[in-house]
Amino acid sequence: MTATTTTQQKRVVQDSKGSVYELGAEMSRGGQGIVYQTQYPLVLIKGFTNKDEQARQRWPRHIAWLIRQDLSDLKLARPLVLLAEPRCGYVMELMDGLVPLQSLLESFIQAEGEMLADYLRQGGLRRRIRILSQLARTLNQLHARGMLYGDLSPSNIFVSDDPAHAETWLIDCDNISLEAHSGLTLHTADYGAPEVVRGEALLSSLTDCWSFAVIAYLLLTHNHPFKGELVSDGEPEEEEAALRGEHPWIYDQQDDANQCFANLPIQLIEHSRLPALFSRCFEQGRYHACERPSMAEWLEALTEIDERICDCANCGCSTLLSAELASVNEVSCFFCDEPADQRLVLFEEFIDWPQQGDGQAMEPDTLMATGRKVWLQPGGKLELKRLMPSFSYDRWPADHVRIEYTEQGLGIHPLPQGKLHLQRGGAKKLLERYQGLKESLRGQHEEPYRIHIGELDEAHVIWQFRW
Ligand SMILES: Nc1ncnc2c1ncn2[C@@H]1O[C@H](COP(=O)(O)OP(=O)(O)O)[C@@H](O)[C@H]1O
Ligand SMILES: [Mg+2]
Repeated sequence: MTATTTTQQKRVVQDSKGSVYELGAEMSRGGQGIVYQTQYPLVLIKGFTNKDEQARQRWPRHIAWLIRQDLSDLKLARPLVLLAEPRCGYVMELMDGLVPLQSLLESFIQAEGEMLADYLRQGGLRRRIRILSQLARTLNQLHARGMLYGDLSPSNIFVSDDPAHAETWLIDCDNISLEAHSGLTLHTADYGAPEVVRGEALLSSLTDCWSFAVIAYLLLTHNHPFKGELVSDGEPEEEEAALRGEHPWIYDQQDDANQCFANLPIQLIEHSRLPALFSRCFEQGRYHACERPSMAEWLEALTEIDERICDCANCGCSTLLSAELASVNEVSCFFCDEPADQRLVLFEEFIDWPQQGDGQAMEPDTLMATGRKVWLQPGGKLELKRLMPSFSYDRWPADHVRIEYTEQGLGIHPLPQGKLHLQRGGAKKLLERYQGLKESLRGQHEEPYRIHIGELDEAHVIWQFRW
């Protein structure tokens, strides 16, 4: 039978373990491969179509190496099993309910007036920060294993279709490799690091960091960091020069030649470490890849923002509260100027160094502020996390305290393992079950509450708040 016959000829492939797949509709056809649906709704096949004989030998060996790596806890649509020879391809899971990040960037309405409604419809600042946090976490986990991702671009990042969620996964894992073994210069226009675009360097974790920073800036402001007025008003060659790293970025502190006044301003995130991280990446890091912030730094800065965002009761937009803020009296919405909800609760983190009791009179414990501040809004819930945000988003480590603010008041969940004490004044009470603090009793005491995590006679974390 030929391909033109009208009978339903099923094309069938087999994987190296003997499972059989019927190739269905083509989902996409790129330079290197074709992605097919199969008879299983959640299973896809990616075929490698490069005709170069050397590449066809190298590729399955690389994919086989990738399959052997333990990457199951990372949010990656990784190859699961190779197709049996002579086929060149692998089996992977469909990212169900997720869409390319590209679609979020493309659908952004640039019209004045509608821009804000659209920004909000797509989940505003909070969702963008959560998407970037998950992406940073996955890249950080790869980098920590000595691996790089490679061709990072918004079409290889898949996010929840539903704007109420921020699930974030990476697809196209073919280029994941050991840092020392990449041998690759593959990149997507707009997102490649300048040294790779110039043809002077191979992909590395530092080029991943560059691509991440470009995507983060684009997602937060809807501007490409190097496409300011110099590029938009200039000849097409200016854009190429900018992507080779020959022009300053939009907010360059030394050179404002490439400024930009369109879309969303960077001031939206000024009360965070992000502006400094962008400067370091796009200024010092433009020519010196080692100066670029690591994924761990991005992850920490993003986690911190998520803890300090509050949503406006009037317009629904999120505002980032300053870390120096001690009371919500002075705060209003970044977008509509509505004063912030006065019921916001501030949790401040301290380390408690217990005094060593040596028979002398006991001195009070030494409390050391860590500088971390977390805000909780009525109707919200939060997780008071450990200092380093390098844990997974989905797991609940045993020493992370869950708190919720309902109509009745504040609720503190006990720790499934480990100890939690609640203190006001001198008395420390062991929390063994859910503890509610009534809304009606709020504001009657001057003394703050303290939540102690762990053993009281060892150095431990305290979260202090007023109620
Ligand atoms: N796991 C997946 N789930 C859903 N769609 C996918 C998945 N893998 C690939 N695709 C779709 O196929 C397209 C091409 O796949 P990709 O692996 O990025 O190939 P290429 O190497 O050609 O860029 C993607 O842009 C996406 O639309
Ligand atoms: Mg791709």
